[in-house]
Amino acid sequence: MEYIVDILRENDEGLGIAKIDNITVFVSDAIKGERVKIEVIDKKKNYLLAKQKEILKKSSDRVDTPCKYYSICGGCDIMHMSHDKQLDFKLNRVRHIFKKLYDKEVNIEKIESLNSFNYRNKVVLRVDNDILGFYKHGTNELFDCNKCIVSSDNINKTIEILHNFINNNKNHNIKEVMIRQNNDTIGKVMVCIDDINKCWQEKFIKELSSYKFIESIYINEKLVYGKNNLLINMFDLTFEVSPKSFFQINELMTKCLYSYVLDNIDNGSNALDLYCGTGTITSIISKKCNKVIGIEVIKDAIYNANKNILRNNIKTVGFMCGKVEDLIDDINIKKLDVIVMDPPRSGSDKKTLNTICNILPKKIIYISCNPVTLVRDLKQLDDYYDIKNIRLFDMFPQTHHVECVCVLNKR
Ligand SMILES: C[S@@+](CC[C@H](N)C(=O)[O-])C[C@H]1O[C@@H](n2cnc3c(N)ncnc32)[C@H](O)[C@@H]1O
Repeated sequence: MEYIVDILRENDEGLGIAKIDNITVFVSDAIKGERVKIEVIDKKKNYLLAKQKEILKKSSDRVDTPCKYYSICGGCDIMHMSHDKQLDFKLNRVRHIFKKLYDKEVNIEKIESLNSFNYRNKVVLRVDNDILGFYKHGTNELFDCNKCIVSSDNINKTIEILHNFINNNKNHNIKEVMIRQNNDTIGKVMVCIDDINKCWQEKFIKELSSYKFIESIYINEKLVYGKNNLLINMFDLTFEVSPKSFFQINELMTKCLYSYVLDNIDNGSNALDLYCGTGTITSIISKKCNKVIGIEVIKDAIYNANKNILRNNIKTVGFMCGKVEDLIDDINIKKLDVIVMDPPRSGSDKKTLNTICNILPKKIIYISCNPVTLVRDLKQLDDYYDIKNIRLFDMFPQTHHVECVCVLNKR
């Protein structure tokens, strides 16, 4: 069914909100203030989902989207908004989440932004016969993608090389590819595939390794060419990163975020870095700290983290490998001044937050890519901590996602 509707505002995922006979409709690719023709694509119990078919009144915040896959790709979802509108949307999104879920007024100071395209240093693509690409929005149907404009240049060159390979070598058996790029002048790349037909393995390695920027190739978690790790430079430090280790995907914004964290660390602090990945924050804040301990569950990341502190000649840092919730009681720092925590999207957990309320450090710096779980966890710290400020970082431009850093002071 087709309707003409006015878009009242955007929801937290960037979908336009409209009403048909008092029923809420969420419309993709539609901006507040626009009048659009829509097609209802799904009816849920209390709301409808619709696609924008034609713009009858256009918002001045709308831009032409430079990606030819935007209308089908499940990746970016707010590329139709201008850069300023995207930032405004993200600020309002976090403000709205806090207003809805948190009882107290909070000051969300601003959103930092440094780039819009070409920023991703890691992508995971799926493969099905000669299709190499991403899932179409809301489906598990693949579309063929030749270029991802939010990804870095050598990731895109690698996508082109892989396209040629899979088109010329049938029954290759590759189902998944992960490509990661570092930030040196060459932009060295690590390529990891899940599997390959034995008869093509040698040819695959020979073809890919002929490109200077391809630094390492993994097949089914086994290194088959080049170096084990990529080296990434940041703050005069070098971090090695293996296929399974987490590393922030937008290098420029990561530097900006880490600087903010560092600015909020007091000289001479004893610090804990929870969910520390390869120990980037742990190492960076160590220059202002007396002692820092990092905790991380992925063994490979802790292996990288330990090698990173040796490589960077840092002597005041230690790491523990395991779940934060299992290890936090065993921390052996007498007077803990600050806890930095950067959990995954699902947030932290009750046990960890309870223990933090027993340790009661002077300061907590909570980094989150999910404002909903951030608010849930902040509520558990509420009896002992005041929010000093919240700053947002546009780590994932063209998508509705945003990184939040919340600085809390002990009351
Ligand atoms: C958002 S990343 C943060 C990494 C790091 N702070 C950085 O900036 O690179 C979250 C990390 O938490 C780790 N992780 C997830 N659940 C965990 C848990 N229960 N205990 C310890 N680490 C966990 C993940 O492996 C990942 O490295």
